[in-house]
Amino acid sequence: MQTLLAIETSCDETAVAILRGNELLASEVASQAEHEAYGGVVPEVASRNHLLHAPRLLESAVKKAAIGLNEVDAFAATAGPGLASSLMIGASIAKGLALGFSKPYLAINHLEGHLLSPFFAGNFAIEPNVSLVVSGGHTLLVEVRALGHYSILGRTVDDAAGEAFDKVAKMLGLDYPGGPEIERCALLGDATRFGFPRSMLDSGDHNFSFSGLKTAVRYQIAKLAAISDDIRNDLSASFQRAVVEVLVKKTMRAALDCGAKLVTVSGGVSCNRELRAQMNEACNRAGLKLLSAAPMLCTDNAAMIAFAASLRFEAGFASDLAEEIDPNLALA
Ligand code: KG4
Ligand code: ZN
Repeated sequence: MQTLLAIETSCDETAVAILRGNELLASEVASQAEHEAYGGVVPEVASRNHLLHAPRLLESAVKKAAIGLNEVDAFAATAGPGLASSLMIGASIAKGLALGFSKPYLAINHLEGHLLSPFFAGNFAIEPNVSLVVSGGHTLLVEVRALGHYSILGRTVDDAAGEAFDKVAKMLGLDYPGGPEIERCALLGDATRFGFPRSMLDSGDHNFSFSGLKTAVRYQIAKLAAISDDIRNDLSASFQRAVVEVLVKKTMRAALDCGAKLVTVSGGVSCNRELRAQMNEACNRAGLKLLSAAPMLCTDNAAMIAFAASLRFEAGFASDLAEEIDPNLALA
């Protein structure tokens, strides 16, 4: 049975995971709260923190997995997309380990990690599907034919869905990351109180846009004298309803266009329970199967990187130690 060790440092989460066969032996994640004070991720702060956290996480992952590093069959790291100086930390450590233990190195695309994460359950076999990847940095609709065979159907033309959640949360005086905060307020709010736009719902393509929605929320806030808890809850619920409706309707349309039988959903925003519930209902209505990533695999983690790496390793892939990280690494 093969054992993979993966490191994820593409943005502000440092993560290490160890996977043996289909069993996740360890999955360590350290988030960086420092960036909140700056209102966004500061690349140099992020990379210095990765350098601080990675050795500690590596040590605790090995301890939890109760294995020796010499038992690892291949070392993997996220090679992009992401922040260059952050990616370099994880990739350098994984390459150093591969070199030191004379084992293969695998450079993994972060988006492939998210994309395949719904299959990290059940029988672990990748089936053809139409996949919605919704995170803080990306909003993608992808046609997945098999491992490594992907076509991008659509993407956001401006803000990512998670970015919109984070920015609207900030306008409402809520903490970062904004997604879980908005979801918490939305549970208590009236989603029909504010009629926010459903951008690009009828654009005739599979692209998204969330910046107009964000601006509509900003104008609505400016019109209100003060934001009481009730108004914050109603704004959150109405904003969330608008995002979810667009994500669900456009995913269903893409699945229909591709003749897909299976829809998958992954990325940080897919933690959102309203999105999961609405997608489930829409798939049931259309007679489609739905696979959503487990909540612990939705936000950035190394388990999804280890899983993608194990599938690639099994299929005979390995990367050259000279392979560079690529901040704009394309999925297809
Ligand atoms: O996948 P992820 O950890 O990082 C990227 O690869 O970007 O996604 C983080 C994003 C953040 O924007 C966060 O606000 C959002 O996922 N998010 C959520 C929820 N939990 C996290 N958005 C909506 N509802 C949630 N429950
Ligand atoms: Zn991510």
